[in-house]
Amino acid sequence: MTVTPINPDGPNHVAIIMDGNGRWATQRGRPRLFGHQAGAKRVRQAVETCPQLGVKYLTIFAFSTENWKRTQSEVAGLMALFRRYIQRESNYLHRLGTRVRFIGEREKLDSKLQKLMDFLEKLTEHNDTTHLTIALNYGARDEVTRATQRLAVEIAEKRLKPEQVNSEVLASFLDTCMLPDPDLVIRTSGEARISNFLLWQSAYAEYEFIDTHWPDFTPDVFETVVGRFGGRDRRFGAVKA
Ligand code: IPE
Ligand code: IPE
Ligand code: MG
Repeated sequence: MTVTPINPDGPNHVAIIMDGNGRWATQRGRPRLFGHQAGAKRVRQAVETCPQLGVKYLTIFAFSTENWKRTQSEVAGLMALFRRYIQRESNYLHRLGTRVRFIGEREKLDSKLQKLMDFLEKLTEHNDTTHLTIALNYGARDEVTRATQRLAVEIAEKRLKPEQVNSEVLASFLDTCMLPDPDLVIRTSGEARISNFLLWQSAYAEYEFIDTHWPDFTPDVFETVVGRFGGRDRRFGAVKA
């Protein structure tokens, strides 16, 4: 199926900090996990909407390296939700032609979840409709630290010379080595910070901080935010003629 993008000048890669699940639930007098469940449902719609918006790459922040600081019960609930999410959504995502990948430090996640992540990546590895990247136990400082450790090993073992390290080489050691840089980063729920998300990759991204809580992020909201992108004047440090 060929879909005509609504916005041909739109962002190729959108990254989303899916924030506000807890506040959305609290406003309804419900436990925070209820908000996370409602939030998980919005992911499917966001993925479905990408082709119409001309968005080829969608990267979503699901769990940060700092989110382990939350209560044990919230963390356990989120991990169970991630497992169930993969079990329930794998076939649907595959049918949509979505290629799913995960970024972040996997070792700290439980082995059952790691196996499900490997399974979903393998199942969808030849798909190309939308590239969905899920940041799970992801932190940009952790990513750069891990990349630097691997780079140091390459240098110590003489496969790479220090003077050969440039920004392309460094980027190739990051978890996102297979992705273009994000053009647009959206954070829901009103906070104007990036909370350790894609620090290197978003150096020239446009940012949208919107008040909508993630569980209220409908395809209409997505379309409106992406629509505003066309009006941005991206100069990348240069002066336009
Ligand atoms: C985002 O929603 C989901 C995760 C960080 C896992 P929050 O849980 O941060 O929701 P708020 O910010 O407390 O409302
Ligand atoms: C960022 O949200 C992480 C995710 C959306 C997964 P947080 O809610 O954890 O960020 P802070 O604590 O408000 O900075
Ligand atoms: Mg939050």
